[in-house]
Amino acid sequence: MDPKALENEARSAIAGASTLSELDEARVRYLGRKSELKQALREVRDPETGRILNSLREELEEQVAVRRGELEREDLDRRLTEEVLDVTLPGQARPRGHLHLITQIRREVEDVFLGLGYSVVDGREVETTHYNFDGLNFPADHPARSPLQSVFLNGDVLLRTETSPSQIRVMEQQPPPIYMVSLGRVYRRDTPDATHTPVFHQVEGLAIDRGITMGDLKGTLLHMMRALFGEEREMRFRTHDFPFTEPSLEPDVSCFLCDGVGCHVCRFSGWIEIAGSGMVDPALFEFVGLDPEEWSGFAFGMGLERVAMLRHGLPALGMLWENDLRLLSQF
Ligand code: DAH
Repeated sequence: MDPKALENEARSAIAGASTLSELDEARVRYLGRKSELKQALREVRDPETGRILNSLREELEEQVAVRRGELEREDLDRRLTEEVLDVTLPGQARPRGHLHLITQIRREVEDVFLGLGYSVVDGREVETTHYNFDGLNFPADHPARSPLQSVFLNGDVLLRTETSPSQIRVMEQQPPPIYMVSLGRVYRRDTPDATHTPVFHQVEGLAIDRGITMGDLKGTLLHMMRALFGEEREMRFRTHDFPFTEPSLEPDVSCFLCDGVGCHVCRFSGWIEIAGSGMVDPALFEFVGLDPEEWSGFAFGMGLERVAMLRHGLPALGMLWENDLRLLSQF
């Protein structure tokens, strides 16, 4: 074996290794247990040759270590540039949804009444004529009982036409005093136009206690209107007729747009029709077995779409149902 030739060959193999695994191959070939050098070292007989071969071994080991250092640094540099993660790059934005305007108003109304100590009660969308009409004192010939006006599923089962049946169910289920609101969908065979859709939402309110007066009704509704339409609102009440209240009152709220001066929203009257209300008719107390001499109460109902329409100046109610995000994302 010619040490000089081996040295040259090994040096160029080590220097020429361009990856760590190539370097390892060269190391095994020239310094491994079966390498020519290691074999020669095992067979060495004279000290002079031993010194030469040992210094060659040290020399080559040193070369391998140096080259390994270089390759590892190169590898690190490459990974630092290639695998870099730029945390300042803007991420992929996911559009965030939000509650539908009707749901927002529903929750606003719930909050107003929870704040007054009322409970929020779930009603049923599928009702019977017993609760939807009879219990609410609708006369036998009332037009809402007709399948031309209401959506019947069969016989005396129908989609509720108002949230008022919840009054009867709550009075049946719990003894007074009762302070509750019930909100949800109602169904009517109405032809859609700017102010009608066959499905819409209402809030129903009921307060039953001893000595409830119309003053309680007026104060409570005024509180709700101010929460929904602004603290400066005033109210007025017109007489009306509902089967389930006596007397019945239709509350108007002063126009929040023109402040009562007159504009297109209030049809130049300064007032906006907003709900139905009244003192609970004694017939309802009798229907659920309460003594009308002992208990008194008020009730009201209001459309949530109408609140949305008025408050946000929507030209047509149906827009809230079309799922057009250009509209809905504004609220
Ligand atoms: N149920 C009525 C409607 O849908 C609204 C209403 C009026 C509810 C007067 C009431 C009330 O509780 O007292 O038109």
